[in-house]
Amino acid sequence: MTATVTTTESSTSHPLAALTPDEIRAATAIVRSDPRFTDTWRFAYVGLEEPLKASVRDFSPGDPVDRLVRMQIVVGPEVHVLEMVVSVTTGDVRSFVEVEGMRPGLLFEESLIAILALKEHPGWQAAMRRRGIEDLDSIQIDPWPAGSFDVAHEEGRRICRCLCYLREKPDDNGYARPIEGVIGFVDMARGEVLEIVDTGVVPLPPENGSYYPEDQGPLRSDLKPLEIVQPDGPSYEVDGNLVRWQRWSLRVTMDPVEGLVIHDVGYEDEGRVRSIIYRAAVSEMVVPYGDPGPMHGWKNAFDAGEWGLGRMVNSLTLGCDCLGVIHYFDAVFTTEQGKPYTIPNAICLHEEDYGILWKHSDPRSGRTEVRRSRRLVVSSIATVGNYEYGFFWYFYLDGSIQFEVKMTGILSTMAVAPGDKPRFANMIAPQLAAPFHQHLFNMRLDMEVDGPDNAVYEMDALPIPPGPDNPWSNAFESVATLLRTEQEAKRVIDPARSRCWKVVNNTSINRLGEPVAYKLVPGSTPTLLAAEDSSVGRRAGFTTRNLWVTPFAADERRAGGDYPNQHAGGDGLPLWTQRDRPIVDEDIVLWHTFGATHIPRPEDWPVMPVEYTGFSLVPVGFFPRNPALDVPPSPEAPCHSP
Ligand code: NI
Repeated sequence: MTATVTTTESSTSHPLAALTPDEIRAATAIVRSDPRFTDTWRFAYVGLEEPLKASVRDFSPGDPVDRLVRMQIVVGPEVHVLEMVVSVTTGDVRSFVEVEGMRPGLLFEESLIAILALKEHPGWQAAMRRRGIEDLDSIQIDPWPAGSFDVAHEEGRRICRCLCYLREKPDDNGYARPIEGVIGFVDMARGEVLEIVDTGVVPLPPENGSYYPEDQGPLRSDLKPLEIVQPDGPSYEVDGNLVRWQRWSLRVTMDPVEGLVIHDVGYEDEGRVRSIIYRAAVSEMVVPYGDPGPMHGWKNAFDAGEWGLGRMVNSLTLGCDCLGVIHYFDAVFTTEQGKPYTIPNAICLHEEDYGILWKHSDPRSGRTEVRRSRRLVVSSIATVGNYEYGFFWYFYLDGSIQFEVKMTGILSTMAVAPGDKPRFANMIAPQLAAPFHQHLFNMRLDMEVDGPDNAVYEMDALPIPPGPDNPWSNAFESVATLLRTEQEAKRVIDPARSRCWKVVNNTSINRLGEPVAYKLVPGSTPTLLAAEDSSVGRRAGFTTRNLWVTPFAADERRAGGDYPNQHAGGDGLPLWTQRDRPIVDEDIVLWHTFGATHIPRPEDWPVMPVEYTGFSLVPVGFFPRNPALDVPPSPEAPCHSP
């Protein structure tokens, strides 16, 4: 980076401004003053309860704002959650609901309790000694969400399954030395070790898996400096959490579970801001593993609903991730004890050169016109255990939008006995393998293409049969199929047909007589490989389709339901869409499941080069012509070598 500015906290002048530390203090004080409050209550989730969309649309600067805070509270070790909404404007409790049998994401405090309880447990200590490990302080314990497998320990408890790794030095890569065969079941809330499973000793892999520069031998010395210079500053403007850049406007916030949230994406066109997206965020994600064995077959991390993509966000002061003039936004969260805390530089905003935007050389006149592409980047990076997920929104000069997840970090590993070759995992280093797995994300896209009421067409490029209309058998047409109800809108990708989904506004007609539209262009993306009626298939039903469309409902927030942790399954999109509600010319929400199936390579070890997945939103007749004709030619100088 060359220069930075930081937004530490937003003002509350706008209904969608981020919660401030004072608002968090006020909200948790209202909870503490409730006569039902006890010292055992823990705040599992504290976030902005978003106002009604109509009131956001009608908002004018200076209007009074009723600021509401939504909370999930754990009252004790029981499986029981309180959902409270309080107003920090008026100081009162707006709703108080007791939810039986549900568990929020894993609490940090309870994760630590689980680790400490396991280290004290004689059965676990004996399992380590059976493997010749005497220095128990050198063991890294990772609490994992336990899933839902009809194990007796699960009932009535908030539990985790603990996996262990050996670190000879404190900064070792523990995933190089998985302590195979041992799983500790711990009641996290009670600090009670329920069972130590030991399926047998597998020797520790021999190599240490360091990715630190000092362990790599000579580093390459022929990379010359490549600097981004913005002598006149950036082209974006920031006001609170409102970002403006090249006709784009949007609001940027962070939710503890969803991580990066984008609101109010609009594009200024002939003097008015045209809406495109009301709200977009990753609503859930899951990492199902494909190994059937007792050690890895239950691993299905819901990294949003079980850990929190916001709670796990990196402070970008630690390691520089972007080049150019950066604007950082801090994120404000709440401790489980109810105090605000700030992650400095949690969201990065900057511009990137992106090669060619458009070009033509006219061979007759010899005239060449070329324009450079540039994009605005809004990004954050979460570390969830061994993995890193970078979430990147890109906004382009031609009206298109892209979302990309950068997957990096360290593979989840297994130790393999010398000479063995696993069937459901690939060897990545001597005696070390990484099981096959998927990373499946669900993006909730509350679309608002030129207004709230939209409809969705599935677009396929299809050949037509030979005949009088097709004498040379070359013809293909673009076939639009209206998705009329929720059940009709459960769809999968079809790259051979160039399938995409077009979101139209039938009340906004362009100069060619067609409704304006943005199309959702999926990438090459899988659906869930586990069976639909498997444990993870029931809990992550949203991963069985690439597209779902629902009418907007304020309480339908997470594709897998609000409480995926240890959930028996069936919640979220599969449940809601059973009603088969109409979705034509309604205020609709698109839910796009995308991701990658990861067949690990030796090159993914000891740290993975970034793998990409994502999708695009591209205007279709939203603009009358290429909206980037007015981008000026670049100065000639930078293109020529000296
Ligand atoms: Ni992976």
